[in-house]
Amino acid sequence: MNVSLLSDKYLVRRIDYSDIAKVYELCCNNSLYYQHCPPFVSTQSIIDDMSALPPNKDFFDKYYVGYYEGDKLIAVMDLIMAYPDESTAFVGFFMTDTSVQNNGIGSTIIDELCAALYHIGVSSLRLGWVKGNPQAEHFWHKNRFIETGTTYDTDSYTVVVAQRVL
Ligand SMILES: CC(C)(COP(=O)(O)OP(=O)(O)OC[C@H]1O[C@@H](n2cnc3c(N)ncnc32)[C@H](O)[C@@H]1OP(=O)(O)O)[C@@H](O)C(=O)NCCC(=O)NCCS
Repeated sequence: MNVSLLSDKYLVRRIDYSDIAKVYELCCNNSLYYQHCPPFVSTQSIIDDMSALPPNKDFFDKYYVGYYEGDKLIAVMDLIMAYPDESTAFVGFFMTDTSVQNNGIGSTIIDELCAALYHIGVSSLRLGWVKGNPQAEHFWHKNRFIETGTTYDTDSYTVVVAQRVL
């Protein structure tokens, strides 16, 4: 997949090692997220996320991308294609820069993503949020994600699985 097709409004490109400092800067201001989903971000956790894969997936289907407005990194997304099944894509991580939040940019990015995925034959988009994170829950509900009924527990929090039919 050509990641530049994921948005008409923003430049989308894969994050590489030279971008880690910018990703860290974007993440570390999102303290509410890390209160619900510890541990707090570190350079190492970003490096780990860049190569993290769900079970039985390989790098071919992983897109760890940045959204740019000019030179400014405004959002980071971890997208896995064909997971958990062939016709579903999965967002493992999505975060916008606090300086641009609550202006509809996150929703625009998700709408554009859904349209681009639909165009290439994906029929649903799935993700999870940490139960009790009001910002994440409100955002995903606003963007038409509906709980599947599945939750899973980690040592520190419960993840609510949700999806949007495209
Ligand atoms: C969730 C996130 C991606 C939204 O990005 P954004 O660019 O602000 O998105 P939008 O402007 O399109 O929408 C934000 C919505 O969240 C709401 N919101 C913001 N903070 C909130 C809070 N603490 N509690 C409840 N709702 C909140 C806003 O009011 C807005 O909804 P509204 O339009 O109905 O008023 C961004 O807040 C973020 O990166 N948060 C940290 C990471 C995260 O939680 N990611 C998703 C978790 S899986």
